[in-house]
Amino acid sequence: MNVLLIGGSGFVGSHLAARLCALGHNVHVPTRHYERAKHLLVLPTATIGEADIHDEAALAQLMRDKDAVVNLVGVLHGGTGEPYGAGFAHAHVELPKKIARAAQRIGVPRFLHMSALQADARAPSGYLRSKAAGEAAAFAVPPPVAVTIFRPSVIFGRGDSFLTLFARLLKRLPVVPLGCPQALFQPVWVEDVAAAFAASLTRRESFGHAYNLCGPRRYTLRELVAYAGRISGHARPVLGLPASLSYLQAWAMEFMPGAPLTRDNWRSMQVPSVCDTACELPFGLAATPLEAVAPAYLAPPA
Ligand SMILES: NC(=O)c1ccc[n+]([C@@H]2O[C@H](COP(=O)([O-])OP(=O)(O)OC[C@H]3O[C@@H](n4cnc5c(N)ncnc54)[C@H](OP(=O)(O)O)[C@@H]3O)[C@@H](O)[C@H]2O)c1
Repeated sequence: MNVLLIGGSGFVGSHLAARLCALGHNVHVPTRHYERAKHLLVLPTATIGEADIHDEAALAQLMRDKDAVVNLVGVLHGGTGEPYGAGFAHAHVELPKKIARAAQRIGVPRFLHMSALQADARAPSGYLRSKAAGEAAAFAVPPPVAVTIFRPSVIFGRGDSFLTLFARLLKRLPVVPLGCPQALFQPVWVEDVAAAFAASLTRRESFGHAYNLCGPRRYTLRELVAYAGRISGHARPVLGLPASLSYLQAWAMEFMPGAPLTRDNWRSMQVPSVCDTACELPFGLAATPLEAVAPAYLAPPA
């Protein structure tokens, strides 16, 4: 298939691009900055090109001759506002609307869209509310465009900005003052996420469906940070902050370079990012345990 992989230069996109190429698909990744996507050029059937995907004419041009479009664009910091900040509206809502319109107009038969677990119009954070609006925008496209949506919990794997970030922080800090220590996650491996996307391209039963993607186990944030410390060789005492201090910490971190945490992220963490029931990956895929994979990219070199 000829696949347009929007947001394909990032963490999930890089793994998905590699998988799609290994399956023999042609993948084109548009990017805002060529440098960010350059690493994909080693893939035999991948091409990259700078483009403004928010420009509807440019988007339509990119969609021509494509059998599928995959949208992975997402931001963690989208500003504040009701029901969500302008950055979230732009990346999570307006973009899927434009992709849906272009898919319909050009006649691209498949549209795979990345959302997030617990996306809900009544969720406490702008991130999750905007992800819900993005889902609605994607599902609004009428047949014959077949839409499939994925909603992962936090995703781990080589290149993640989750366990890897904790490991880096732990290396520098003697003790970790941790906000929201009891926040719950059910991490899913990036290769399992990529496998689900790739399989759904041709699975008719996935047309018009949304799938939660979770790993086999739930963890508190405190457990995950402690685990990253142990595996990376930088085990540190973790000091769990109470709710009020957690919020103040997130507020303060909003003003740090790169805003490692925001109040909106804090609000997202008030909702357990776990599956309601025993979560099974779709298409007969088996979820890979964190412990089977994380040491390979977190452990210090021998
Ligand atoms: N990682 C997780 O744990 C996790 C969990 C749940 C859901 N998700 C969702 O999964 C998707 C992929 O996540 P990821 O971790 O791979 O993210 P990522 O590494 O930040 O990559 C996202 C890509 O989207 C593009 N992008 C970002 N903002 C954009 C904007 N305003 N306009 C156009 N392009 C933009 C970027 O491409 P260029 O810079 O090349 O243009 C970037 O490579 C996102 O939708 C995210 O919300 C991720």
